[in-house]
Order: sequence, then C-alpha cells, then structure tokens
Amino acid sequence: MIELIKKNIKRKIEQTYQLDQVIVEEPKRGAADIAIPLFNLAKEWKMNPKLVFDKIKDDVLVDHVKEIEFTNGFLNIYLERKELSEQILHNVFEKQSHYGDQLLEEKSSIVMDYSSPNIAKSFGVGHLRSTMIGNSIQLIYKKLGYQTVAVNHLGDWGTQFGKMIVAYQKWGSKEEVQKNPIAEMQKLYVKFHDEEKNDDSLEQQARDVFKKLEDGDQVYTELWSWFKDESLKEFMQMYDLLNVSFDYFTGESFYNGKMDAVVDELEEKNLLKVDQGATIVDLGDDMPPALIKRSDGATLYITRDIAAILYRYHTYDATKLLYVVGNEQQLHFKQLKKVTDLMGYHFDIEHINFGLVLVDGKKMSTRGGKFKRLEEVIDQAILLAKEAIMSKNPDLKNQDEVAKAVAIGAIIYNDLKNDKHLDVDFDLENMLKFEGQTGPYLQYSSVRIESILRGYDVDLSLVDSNVFMQDHYFEIVKSLAQFPNILHRAKELSSPSVISKYVMSLAQAFNSFYGKERLIVEDQGVLHANLLFARSIQIVINESLRLLGIKSLKEM
Ligand code: ARG
Repeated sequence: MIELIKKNIKRKIEQTYQLDQVIVEEPKRGAADIAIPLFNLAKEWKMNPKLVFDKIKDDVLVDHVKEIEFTNGFLNIYLERKELSEQILHNVFEKQSHYGDQLLEEKSSIVMDYSSPNIAKSFGVGHLRSTMIGNSIQLIYKKLGYQTVAVNHLGDWGTQFGKMIVAYQKWGSKEEVQKNPIAEMQKLYVKFHDEEKNDDSLEQQARDVFKKLEDGDQVYTELWSWFKDESLKEFMQMYDLLNVSFDYFTGESFYNGKMDAVVDELEEKNLLKVDQGATIVDLGDDMPPALIKRSDGATLYITRDIAAILYRYHTYDATKLLYVVGNEQQLHFKQLKKVTDLMGYHFDIEHINFGLVLVDGKKMSTRGGKFKRLEEVIDQAILLAKEAIMSKNPDLKNQDEVAKAVAIGAIIYNDLKNDKHLDVDFDLENMLKFEGQTGPYLQYSSVRIESILRGYDVDLSLVDSNVFMQDHYFEIVKSLAQFPNILHRAKELSSPSVISKYVMSLAQAFNSFYGKERLIVEDQGVLHANLLFARSIQIVINESLRLLGIKSLKEM
C-alpha cells in the first residue's frame, strides 16, 4: 500500500519534470511517513530547496496523503492513517499466510543447488549453513511466484571413492560400517591418508580403482552404492529434523554417463588443450585452467559441474542457477562460469557464498574430531531446549515436539540472523535464550500473541479503525505494509537475513507495544481493532519464520 503511494508520487514527479531518478523514501521511525530529499533537485534546478518544495508540492498530493511540510531540505509527507491502516490490516488478515504471495506468469524455473554434502563423510557445519540458507532462499523465491527446482548435488563421485574402496578392502569390515556408517567410513578415509605417507603406491591404487568404477566395474559399483545408501540414511535424518526437502538428489555420479558429450562439445568448440597428459580448458591469465580430465582419463569435480549445468539448463528450462556453497569454492564457480561462457552459453549463475561457523572464535569443523558430530550437537540443543521448556511450562503436552522446534529454530535463527557473508558464532546457550536476538524469542512472541487472543475471534464489522491513528499502532501497521518489499529485498540480495532482521524488529515492536497497551478491553470497537491488529502481526511473524525454515508454535 505505502509502496504504491511512494511509487505514485515518484512517477508523478518524474513525469511532470522529465526527471529519471527521484528519491522517495520511508524514513526511519519517528519522522514523516514518506520523505523526499530536495538537495539533488535544488542542485539540478539551481534554486534553493524551499523553492523546490514550492514548485513540486502540489504534485505529491496523491491518494492517502494528508499533510506535507518542508523541513531541513526535505519534503515530508504525512499519510491519512485510518483508511490506510484499515486497508493494510484487512489485506494481511484476509490473505493470512498468503500475505505477500506473488503470482508470476513465468514458466521457466530457478534451479537451486544447496546442502550437497559428501558421501562417506559427515554432514559438516558448512553443509548445514548451505542447507539452511538454500532452503530459505528457495522458500522466498517460491513465495514470490517463481518455479524452483531444489537439487542436492551430492558429492558421490570422484577419486575419494577410489580411496574409500581401497581402504575398505584393506582395513574395513562390513559389520563396523553397518554399525556406524559415516563414522566408520570417515575413519577408513583418515586411515588411507595416514598410510599413504608410508606407501606411495596407495594413491595410484585409488586412482585405478576409481577409473574402474567410472568404467562400471561391478564389485566396485556395489561397494560404492552401499556406501552411498548408508550415508544417505544419515543425511535423510538430518533433513527430516530440519524439515528440508529436495526435488532431486542428483549427485555427481548422476553425470557419469553424461560427461563424454561434454568433452565432445568442448572439443568441437576447440576449447580443449592437452597439458602434461591432462585435458584442460585454458581460462586466460586471470584464472588457472579448468582441469577436465586427468591423464588417466578420469573426470573431475568441474567436469561434472559442467555436465550438471547443461543438464539443468535443458531439463528444467532454467533461467537462473543458484549455488549455495561456501566461500572456498569461489574460484571453482568462476571457472565454471567462464568455461560455459566460452562454450557460448552465458548462463545466469549466482554463487551464493557464506562465512564460517565459529566456536570460541575458532573455525568449527566436524572433521578432525575437535567438535562433536553435528547430530550430537543438535541433540544437545534439543535437550537444553527441553530443560528450558520444562522449567517455564511444566504442564505443556507435546514437550518433545516443542523442544525440537525450539532447538532447530534457535540454530537456524542464529545462522540466518546476520548477513550470510559474516561468520557465525555457534554458542548453544546463547542461541537458546528466550530473550535477545534469538529464534526462541521470536517463537515466544508469536505464542504470546496466541495466548493473549485465545478465545477471541476478530469481527471485522466491529473494528473501530480510529484506534490505528495513534502513533504506536500506526508505526507497526506501516511495518506490516513493508513485508512484501522485504521479501523482494531478501531475494535481490539472496539473503534471508533481510527477513530475520525484519521479523526481529516487528516482534520487538509488538512486545514493547504490549508493555504499554492492553489488548483485551471492554470497548468492542477497540477490542476488535486490537484483535485485528495483533492477529495481523502474528500472521506476519509466523510467515517470516516459515520463510526462514523455523516452525511457529501455538504453545511453548
Ligand atoms: N559437495 C560439495 C562440497 O561439499 C559441494 C557441491 C556444491 N555444488 C556444486 N554443484 N558444485 O564441497
């Protein structure tokens, strides 16, 4: 609504005076509803700002504008509050969780590659970040009407499987792997690297085995497939817990039969070179070459990514391809983009990268055994959440379910609350607090509204909209009106933190509002205005949480 008013004003001035970029903004709290800084116009027209004000003041008098004034070089606009609030709140209340949804005609899709953990290795914290950021961005795109395809590009191919197989055949046992699949596989992998230091031939053995695997050797294929199934079982538990799903689990191995065509195409396009036996694509001076095939003919990570991108582009009619992968793969995605550019495709690729997860200021890694396995960390979070809930609300019925939602919500919010490029501090105790910038605080705010309104239904015909004219109401109404815009910003920046910051300030605003004002009052007009107001806030909080991947609760 307010967005529309801003647009109308902007258009009117731009058209009337043949200008191409007039700033029309919503200043932060306290000031006017809408403001136009006049300095630029003053400069352009060589007149003082007050004269600019006089010149354009009639052009801003569009619908819902109540008053204008000149202050400190700004044209300040105050809006008519009553009808506007009514329209905004009715809109939220009628659409419920669909408030902010957008319909797009687009038939083509956005392909998103996220999570993508590596088989036979533990699900790392980096993969957890990728999963949460990717999931949220996918939900945001969907809400904005895009068709999305969520792909899990499992790391299930490559020389490391040669190593795994060699290690398993030398030192492994079926029973051990079955008992504790990923931990055991990881142990074997580590052992391989330790032994390799004393035995030069191991590396070559692993390469030979992988080459045979690529060529379809039956015994190796069966072993590989078993490793994969066992790993997937564990990964699926993680996805269940996080409530994340994918459209396709097409990992690297999926492209095994599709790489010859890629190599042929590169050849046809005259892009291949042989360098010390290996096949490469030269990418010029600013990047190292892309290694397409080793001298023994085995393919590489980037070869599979080239095959994958062509496949996705054609199969899903993609307009854009997103990859949510840590910073350390920046070069890889630059190379991928460059290779496909040289092939003549010019795909719209976005590498959404992110910072590290830190514990006590140090990089958290689930490898190397310094930290516990991620599942254990999550279990511990659930335990802590349960303790907190039991002390706050001992009679709560579905305590386990709530504890799970609170713990996962805490971890997700902690991860998504800051810009994705920043490092994340992983401190369970802090993230589980019920106050401060935490997931539980947000869930609690929604629960609080639920309990205040329990037993009351909004009757729109009874609402006295005069109530919304008061500053402390209108400020919040305006912020509800911003929600659609927030979604667009989050999408434009590929950053869920736009939503996490917004929902935090909305929840805080409500809580401080509720510190001053009672919602349940005698007067029916005021009561129903309050019910509409508080429900609308709750709707937007819950929907924001959903877009972050956090469950909202009715009780906690
Ligand atoms: N499996 C890779 C890793 O853990 C991430 C894969 C990202 N996706 C891609 N298409 N390369 O490092």
